[in-house]
Amino acid sequence: MAIVKPLAALAGAALLLGGLAACAAERDTGTTSGGSTETDTQTSEVLIGVTMPTKSLERWNNDGAQLVELLESMGYTTQLDYADNKIEMQISQIENQINAGAKVLVIASIDGESLGPTLEKAKAANIPVIAYDRLIMQTADVDYYATFDNYLVGQLQGKFIEEKLDLAGGAGPFNLEPFAGSPDDNNASLFFGGAWDVLQPYVESGQLVVPSGKGPATKADWKSIGIQAWKSETAQAEMENRLNSFYTDKKVDVVLSPNDSLAMGIAQALEANGYQVGVDWPILTGQDADKANVKNIVDGKQSMTVWKDTRKLADDAARMVDEIVKGSAVTTNDTTTYDNGVKVIPSFLDLPQVVTKDEVESDLIGSGFITADDIK
Ligand code: GAL
Repeated sequence: MAIVKPLAALAGAALLLGGLAACAAERDTGTTSGGSTETDTQTSEVLIGVTMPTKSLERWNNDGAQLVELLESMGYTTQLDYADNKIEMQISQIENQINAGAKVLVIASIDGESLGPTLEKAKAANIPVIAYDRLIMQTADVDYYATFDNYLVGQLQGKFIEEKLDLAGGAGPFNLEPFAGSPDDNNASLFFGGAWDVLQPYVESGQLVVPSGKGPATKADWKSIGIQAWKSETAQAEMENRLNSFYTDKKVDVVLSPNDSLAMGIAQALEANGYQVGVDWPILTGQDADKANVKNIVDGKQSMTVWKDTRKLADDAARMVDEIVKGSAVTTNDTTTYDNGVKVIPSFLDLPQVVTKDEVESDLIGSGFITADDIK
């Protein structure tokens, strides 16, 4: 049953589009049943299609909910789909949204190189596409990109390690185990590139040693240590394998984890191998401020996370949608960097920030991103 809410602000848009009704058609993972009243649109409604990769990684649940809430508040009708990290499911969901008459598509892709043919259909239907958080690659049929500065995310992780170990001061050698994200995610190359640009000189100087031998020769080789679909259990198994194979007579001092889901698995491997907080627990990085990881940060099992406030990203994407629908200039702040292999995509980047135990209260709880109960 469509939920019709009183018209939100933006009277101009309402007049322009003739009385918008807002309703959200949020579906669980993968349901693609067509014909639901939730997606029936009348001429006066403007449907915005939103697709997220999975519910199994915490941040995407926040992204979807926050984006739908914002778009609804602007008076738009939305259809939100999650694809359980299944590429074919995401493709059919996007095609369903095209067929349902979506006026703009907001897509957080699973595999950035898998959507070319689907987006040709969006182009043929004159539907603009916003790549959300992850750049969609190898297609001209992407119009805008809303994300955080993901190279900076990696730099912040690398610089955190550099400062904690006083590498610039010549300290070392330290045992490092680097990890990278999912090989099908363009963001993962940016995260690793940002971090390795900081850390690789210290590997070359001998201040950082990689006993497993899994330090990529160049940042372009990052996929050699990629963890498919960002799965915690895969990162845990990989870390256990490295500890069992290369650390029988030594300790790991620092682990570069590109995000929190990997850091969670790595922490479980460390605990299983007898590492103890305050005794021999290594520096461990992360990203996303997932609740369980923030608790680990408070408990000393993770050193930091790079916080990307998804409320900001939802704001940016919703603003782009509104500007596109109203036909006004779309706000971007980077029109040169993000080449998707076919063209440079005009982008809006937001800034990530480092959160350690000292900033949990002030930044995460203080801003309402999480509550104190979330990390009890
Ligand atoms: C990336 C995203 C990160 C990370 C990962 C798993 O593309 O930018 O926030 O968590 O996916 O969701």
